[in-house]
Amino acid sequence: MATTITDRRAGLAERYLSVRELTERLADPLSAEDQCIQSMPDVSPTKWHRAHVTWFFETFVLSPHVPDYEEFDSAFGFLFNSYYEAVGPRHSRPHRGLLSRPGIGDIAMYRHHVDAAMAAALAAGSLNDEVLALVELGLNHEQQHQELLLMDIKHVFAQNPLGPAYRDGIGRVTRAESPAKESWISHPGGIVEVGHDGRGFSYDNETPRHRSLVEPFELSGSLVTCGEWQEFIDDGGYRRSDLWLSDGWAVVNAEDWTTPSYWRRGEDGFEVFTLGGWRPVTSAEPVCHVSYYEADAFARWSGARLPTEQEWELVVASVPADGGIQLDGLHPRPSNGGDPQFFGQVWQWTSSAYLPYPGFAPAPGAVGEYNGKFMVNQHVLRGSSCVTPVGHSRPTYRNFFPPAARWPFTGLRLARS
Ligand SMILES: [Fe+2]
Repeated sequence: MATTITDRRAGLAERYLSVRELTERLADPLSAEDQCIQSMPDVSPTKWHRAHVTWFFETFVLSPHVPDYEEFDSAFGFLFNSYYEAVGPRHSRPHRGLLSRPGIGDIAMYRHHVDAAMAAALAAGSLNDEVLALVELGLNHEQQHQELLLMDIKHVFAQNPLGPAYRDGIGRVTRAESPAKESWISHPGGIVEVGHDGRGFSYDNETPRHRSLVEPFELSGSLVTCGEWQEFIDDGGYRRSDLWLSDGWAVVNAEDWTTPSYWRRGEDGFEVFTLGGWRPVTSAEPVCHVSYYEADAFARWSGARLPTEQEWELVVASVPADGGIQLDGLHPRPSNGGDPQFFGQVWQWTSSAYLPYPGFAPAPGAVGEYNGKFMVNQHVLRGSSCVTPVGHSRPTYRNFFPPAARWPFTGLRLARS
């Protein structure tokens, strides 16, 4: 039976409450000072995330589509617009950490103001299907920022020599670890179909579904682990130029990379910074916080390669997407034997450049800037991570980051022809 617009409104109203509440719960352990810090240009303060996702609903739903809506503060558009040129000028991204005002109390009031207006608009039944689609986009947008909030605060805390914990007990391995058994999943390839089929929500960049020619291949049944990464380090992986793309080798040298991000050498071996603070590296857990350049060099060292995004999607197409430890463990965990860990541990780099699918058209209006304008100089990642909100993963999801990015929860699995 087709979903009626009334069902859709009721479903969105309920989901609106739970998504907004989760953002607040994620911010809750953080002090006002924690929430203001920006540790590098790519990181945004927690307070800014909370306000920006609110601005999204105000700007794209309430102001244009709810006639009696009163804007909370006319200065906020400039402060909390991220990158929407069509909406207007904005505060410089690298200087978000200088916004000591508005305070977290003001941001809380802003959220309440917008939540009340959204609840009333959804209850009134006046939002048409097109606007409800914007509400749904706003909720998915807020879920993306929930992951960003955790990625960013981890980076902030990692800069502090005290190594503060966001939450105690993160990243403890409770069961005896045994390395995942090597296994490969074969696929015959062919002229195949990939991309979202239009049933349920997707971002515009996952569409249209289209044909693709794929040669026969094998995809690894496990993620690359920290133990395997240590072998790469021990074998001079970060010192051998023959393993690296030219751009990657330049970054390795310029940034003096010798390990994944958030690793350091302790008295008894490598240690890793987690959302629970520093602890020893566990060799069986998936390696995390590696760049595309590192993933590519590791794959070359292994005598394999990274999968294309089409290969990854073909194998994972029918796998339920809410596995893993999304927003539970907050750190990747070892596989329990045969679990291939496609979702809920680490985003997996693919060799695919982030490009439009054949026939891609950005969504109309300012929200068309959501994905399309970033389709250059980035690589696609598939799956989801341990800080991806539940319900925000699917086999066609295309995450993307520049090849040198290491602060997202990024890892890899191998492929071979
Ligand atoms: Fe955003």
